[in-house]
Amino acid sequence: MSAEIKVETQNVTLKVMKGSEGPDVLDVRSLYKDTGMFTFDPGFMSTASCESAITYIDGDKGILRYRGYPIEQLAEQASFEEVCYLLLHGELPTKKEFEEFTKIINQHTMVNEQLKNFFNGFRRDAHPMAIMCGVVGALSAFYHDSLDINDARQREIAAFRLIAKVPTIAAMAYKYSVGQPFAYPRNDYNLAENFLHMMFSTPCEDYKVSPTLAKAMDRIFTLHADHEQNASTSTVRLAGSSGANPFACIAAGIASLWGPAHGGANQAVLEMLEEIGSVDNIPAYIENVKDKENPTRLMGFGHRVYKNFDPRAKIMRDTCHEVLKELGVEDPMLDVAMELERIALEDPYFVERKLYPNVDFYSGIIMRAMGIPTNMFTVIFALSRTIGWTSHWAEMIADDAQKIGRPRQLYVGATERDYVDIAKRK
Ligand code: CMC
Repeated sequence: MSAEIKVETQNVTLKVMKGSEGPDVLDVRSLYKDTGMFTFDPGFMSTASCESAITYIDGDKGILRYRGYPIEQLAEQASFEEVCYLLLHGELPTKKEFEEFTKIINQHTMVNEQLKNFFNGFRRDAHPMAIMCGVVGALSAFYHDSLDINDARQREIAAFRLIAKVPTIAAMAYKYSVGQPFAYPRNDYNLAENFLHMMFSTPCEDYKVSPTLAKAMDRIFTLHADHEQNASTSTVRLAGSSGANPFACIAAGIASLWGPAHGGANQAVLEMLEEIGSVDNIPAYIENVKDKENPTRLMGFGHRVYKNFDPRAKIMRDTCHEVLKELGVEDPMLDVAMELERIALEDPYFVERKLYPNVDFYSGIIMRAMGIPTNMFTVIFALSRTIGWTSHWAEMIADDAQKIGRPRQLYVGATERDYVDIAKRK
């Protein structure tokens, strides 16, 4: 199959490429050579930047699958470690493969002792995402034996290190902010239990990891593990396309995730709920959101891809209610959240624009109930997404068709003009 376009008087034939699912794509690779023209697509609204076999999304139908498996089944039945193996290797592990994989991950959870010194360079009130950008990037200065991107074994070791060490660094960032000693990881815990242990245990008393909270955390990790070519994943791919090392690429992904339109939204949701304060203030807030003169958006609503519902939000909503019930949390913010959800689902402004609660709307409420401070929410998103970023990076490096990423532009600046000496400038 092919498509014909007419560029001025020239007929151009474009190959149509078919994936295993989803929309076909027009292959425009030879367009510039054939016509001297580029395509224009800010925000990549209509552009596929790569071939990928990792995650499939159908935004209209609310479908999200990792390696073909529906997110609902994985969130319900698989552990996060299984999901990590699946994303990285393409298949679910056998029992033996799973045991080997978890053993390797557990052996990599500690970080080099010297890495601790980096934390002292930060102010105690530094945003933990700022610390993450710096310290995760600094891993490249410590693990020289996994920096050769052309060596498949080194790439694999780098992936293990990232999956295992980013949660440790995330918990260290929190401990540093509250002035408590860092807690070493425990290799008898899974990743979710270990993270809670490193966040909340102190040398003064035993900390018992609650199975309910560990399950909820595991689910948060799984639901955020991958989301195909979003801004941060595309950033990781673009950084990696130049041959940069994997730790530096993941640090670039963390930086991209930090923005409030992406991973920063879960923090922004809680800040918004606090700003609204009570159910009575919701109508006035909604009016502000609808006002085009006002830049305020309803945080935790809308998605670039999901235009009917976010399947992750459905699962998170149920988990949210489970956790709040189990913990017996009475939280006025939850009343505000539920009323906002109700209004937005009925209000024509939101219905017409297909703006539904997204995953961050509910995950923020769960993490707040667990006692996790708001500024750690995006960090938890980053540690969950590390496996997705790493899998995409590994897929890209192993792809023979991979090229350095180099978008084109439509230049709208000044045309050629002559330099004027400063004394003569008006
Ligand atoms: N509140 C109010 N109006 C909105 C919102 C919102 N949250 N989101 C979109 N709109 C309106 C927007 O003003 C526009 O209206 P109009 O057509 O009248 O100009 C229309 O809906 C389409 O908006 P858009 O900006 O073209 O949509 P987009 O697909 O580019 O934006 C988004 C997607 C996620 C950036 C946006 O919905 C948003 O800013 N949401 C709030 C932030 C948020 O929760 N982000 C987390 C996304 S989920 C986590 C992740 O995967 O990273």
